[in-house]
Amino acid sequence: MDKIVIAGGKKLSGTVQISGAKNAALPMMAATILASGQSTLHNVPHLKDVSTFSDVLRVLGARVKREEHGLTIDTSSIEHFEAPYELVRTMRASIYVLGPLLARFGQARVSLPGGCAWGPRPVNLHLKAMEELGAQVEIQHGYIVAHSEKLSGAVIDFDVSSVGATANTMMAACLASGTTVIRNAAREPEIEALGAMLTSMGASISGVGTGTVEIRGVEGLHEVQERVIPDRIEAGTYMVATAITGGEVTLKGVRVDHMGAVIAKLEEAGIVIRQEGENLVVERTSSLAPLDITTAPYPGFPTDMQAQIMILLSLARGTSVITENIFPDRFTHVPEIRRMGANVKLDANVAVITGVKELSGAPVMASDLRASAALILGGLVAKGETEVLRIYHIDRGYERIGEKLRRLGAEIHRVRE
Ligand code: UD1
Repeated sequence: MDKIVIAGGKKLSGTVQISGAKNAALPMMAATILASGQSTLHNVPHLKDVSTFSDVLRVLGARVKREEHGLTIDTSSIEHFEAPYELVRTMRASIYVLGPLLARFGQARVSLPGGCAWGPRPVNLHLKAMEELGAQVEIQHGYIVAHSEKLSGAVIDFDVSSVGATANTMMAACLASGTTVIRNAAREPEIEALGAMLTSMGASISGVGTGTVEIRGVEGLHEVQERVIPDRIEAGTYMVATAITGGEVTLKGVRVDHMGAVIAKLEEAGIVIRQEGENLVVERTSSLAPLDITTAPYPGFPTDMQAQIMILLSLARGTSVITENIFPDRFTHVPEIRRMGANVKLDANVAVITGVKELSGAPVMASDLRASAALILGGLVAKGETEVLRIYHIDRGYERIGEKLRRLGAEIHRVRE
């Protein structure tokens, strides 16, 4: 299995282009199922999760073609309605086919995703929403089996804000009869991007980006051309990389309005951040101040940046606290960064991080996507050499990360084994 080897201690400088957002691209790919015809998505990142989702669509019978950063999906030949375990177990987001398949074809079989490296990841809200829209949903032999004549609009109240369940419900409700209201809907930019795409396809949706989304069902949707928004988590990861190595980097193609919580926390830590059009210039001019961070649904601090910011706080002047409120067990990076010399104490979902003078390079093992990113960040700043093993997770969510960091001056390479 490949590993990444990093010689730490190089300041990053230069310019990095931010890629399209994985978490926007995946539901957008699913949304193409809703209309028969050929849709094209632009600015689609080259990532393992995108190719896995392409395979899910192909198993359904769609034709998927990639050209550079464009992805053309022809859904007119869909004739299967099952997302198999072999694919779903490698990517939980496969559940995004549930709503669109039910809405257009009245049936879907989707493997239950199971847990992940940091604990259970329930799908009860997805199932509840489909049932409330009138589908019969059963669990059979590890699969979600759902049927419906025609879905009908309903008021759906989520007790937890869920990105995935909100997206699935929006897609399903587009072709339902009558009006659907989603209460406590997720407000993430990726949900807004999906709403914009569905609207371009002919859907009637209001309130996207607020906690209450209203969808008036229509008879049919049509093909679309849509651009994927920039990846706010990738951007945040490069901001942390710049901050910890003490350099100055320009991030190109960022939606600054999506980055509020991350920018605010980095500024509080002492990082200088300037907006120049669609670019962000990030510079470290002083030592790092400790922070108190609580992860929360958007516009709060994203759980997908928690592991990366922990590396920065490991090097801050004082004691920081991170409270993980979205996925309470999401701390698989902690034992690994301790091996690099970080001082982190864990108590349930709270991490107390006491800054150390430096991290030291070590062989470490990645166990999920953002944890892998954090270990690479640690390697960039650690004294000596770091080997990040089991790095296939990083290919799921960071486009050409080694090449991008090398261009910024990092000494990082991938060893194929
Ligand atoms: C998405 C993102 C992921 C991010 C997460 C939170 C994608 C492909 N993935 O994941 O990177 O970390 O949002 O921002 O976009 N929950 C339930 N029941 C459900 C569904 C969720 O209880 O049926 C809970 C989860 O356990 C969690 C919370 O809701 O505590 C939020 O999860 P959710 O927003 O659904 O995460 P995903 O959509 O899976």
